[in-house]
Amino acid sequence: MSTPLVEMKNVSIAFGGVRAVDNVSIDLHAGEVVGLLGHNGAGKSTLIKMLSGAYKMDSGEIWIEGNKATINSPRDSRDYNIETIYQTLALADNLDAASNLFLGRELTTPFGFVDDSRMESETRKIMARLNPNFKKLKEPVSALSGGQRQSVAIARAVYFNAKILIMDEPTAALGVHETAMVAELIGELKKQGLGIFLISHDTREMMELCDRVAVMKNGQLIGSERVEDVTEDDILSMIILGKNPKAAA
Ligand SMILES: Nc1ncnc2c1ncn2[C@@H]1O[C@H](COP(=O)(O)OP(=O)(O)OP(=O)(O)O)[C@@H](O)[C@H]1O
Ligand SMILES: [Mg+2]
Repeated sequence: MSTPLVEMKNVSIAFGGVRAVDNVSIDLHAGEVVGLLGHNGAGKSTLIKMLSGAYKMDSGEIWIEGNKATINSPRDSRDYNIETIYQTLALADNLDAASNLFLGRELTTPFGFVDDSRMESETRKIMARLNPNFKKLKEPVSALSGGQRQSVAIARAVYFNAKILIMDEPTAALGVHETAMVAELIGELKKQGLGIFLISHDTREMMELCDRVAVMKNGQLIGSERVEDVTEDDILSMIILGKNPKAAA
């Protein structure tokens, strides 16, 4: 077994009296998609926010590629090549794809000026690789479809050499066609060896996209199973009853 890209060990965080994440351990390998499922408020977003540096855990450890990591901020997380695509996509609506791709990390000329033409050509290159149908390079991203906006966000992560990608409900607001496009992108990133934590409420979609699914309830991890080892009913009973039918066997 290879060293996991990510190991979260006995991670906990509470808000006031609420144990939002309660002693959860989970890992992620290169080229693997691990899905997080569970009802609203189960703790999925909070769990990944400790990895993305948005929240600081109360206790537990995070190991990245076999080394103990210190993640106290989103910047720390990026330094470990972790990129996050949030539930509410953080794109600047009035800017075009290239400006969004390099937002806060602009390319500059040797004289220190923002290098628009290089940013545009780099954007063209990466979009050609990720989403060849993407043509709207010059338009503000507010004019893009949800799926196209997703590809800009994913391109940003890939361009900056993400090894670990966190996607919190990337398809929640998308139509069927656009969801298929994001699914294709996820497959492509997986082939390139990225590890992906994916959050979604769509159990069937998760069983298609993920190698493993982990179910949370009331802040606790109910189980983590390879998709080929479980049925959709197994997963639903984990979500609803908070019991892993596989663990009893
Ligand atoms: N910043 C915060 N302050 C207080 N409570 C919080 C905070 N963030 C999350 N919580 C609480 O932690 C628990 C887990 O929330 P979380 O957002 O992780 O759930 P989730 O599984 O992502 O749900 P959803 O599917 O609705 O996105 C909830 O009870 C929520 O109210
Ligand atoms: Mg959430």
